[in-house]
Amino acid sequence: MRHGQPSRTAIAAAAHRAQHQLTDRPLVFEDPLAAKMLGEDWKPKAALLGRRSMRAFIAARSRLAEDALADAYARGVRQHLVLGAGLDTFAGRNPHQGLKVFEADHPETQAWKRRSWHSVGMPEGLTFAPIDLEQQPLVDALVTAGVEPAQPLFVAWLGVTPYLRRETVMSTLRALTLLSGGVELVFDYGPPPGSLSGPIRTAYDVRAAGVAAIGEPWLTHFEPAPLAAELIALDFTQIEDIGPAEINARYFGGREDGLRVLAGRIVRTRT
Ligand SMILES: C[S@@+](CC[C@H](N)C(=O)[O-])C[C@H]1O[C@@H](n2cnc3c(N)ncnc32)[C@H](O)[C@@H]1O
Repeated sequence: MRHGQPSRTAIAAAAHRAQHQLTDRPLVFEDPLAAKMLGEDWKPKAALLGRRSMRAFIAARSRLAEDALADAYARGVRQHLVLGAGLDTFAGRNPHQGLKVFEADHPETQAWKRRSWHSVGMPEGLTFAPIDLEQQPLVDALVTAGVEPAQPLFVAWLGVTPYLRRETVMSTLRALTLLSGGVELVFDYGPPPGSLSGPIRTAYDVRAAGVAAIGEPWLTHFEPAPLAAELIALDFTQIEDIGPAEINARYFGGREDGLRVLAGRIVRTRT
């Protein structure tokens, strides 16, 4: 991320969710606050939005995370961490009584997000945890913000791993395993470019050049089997890792508009 600036890719992800509300039927992910969070004068901008398969992926990962959160809430989880929150709006739509929501993000992005929340309407019970994951210990920041480490925590970590160094992704995963109440985690990641070909590789190259040009290059990729081995070594269990075929079957079947995911994977796991 560029020093002194909020994350521009966070704006792009929010724009995809807002565009999804306007364009796609049926909706995969309902987010009536998405456009409001971008400001009243938000209009779709083609340059920001890029390919619609990316919009599909962003809608699917939020849907999967919020469905998993609802399951966790039904099992008694009462703490939710949105890690690398960007312009995520869950806190403003939280339907779960008594669920505490924590938004952790890079301080520059978070300062700007707070201002956005003030214009949308600051949600009750939302707590902020500013943190640069590359520089600071996660558990300290969470405990300072009021996360109870001995109570179970649901974590949505969406659209963040590509922007961190690999060591930081691994140290963040390791930090989550230290929370004694247990963690359920949903995160996404991209495959190494060398594993892609044809139009999917071309789309990857265009998008990778775009994010690098705005100072937020994709630094980290994973392949499913080695990632699963690393998660197991960290004591994560019940690893579900779904790619485009499974995501499309689950969320995009039977559509007439052809919206679908081309690349990217989503993991659901727990400690
Ligand atoms: C593509 S945005 C995704 C935002 C949001 N999760 C979403 O799905 O819309 C990437 C997010 O990662 C955050 N991020 C990037 N580097 C970070 C770091 N070193 N520490 C904390 N957050 C970071 C950015 O501030 C931004 O909110």
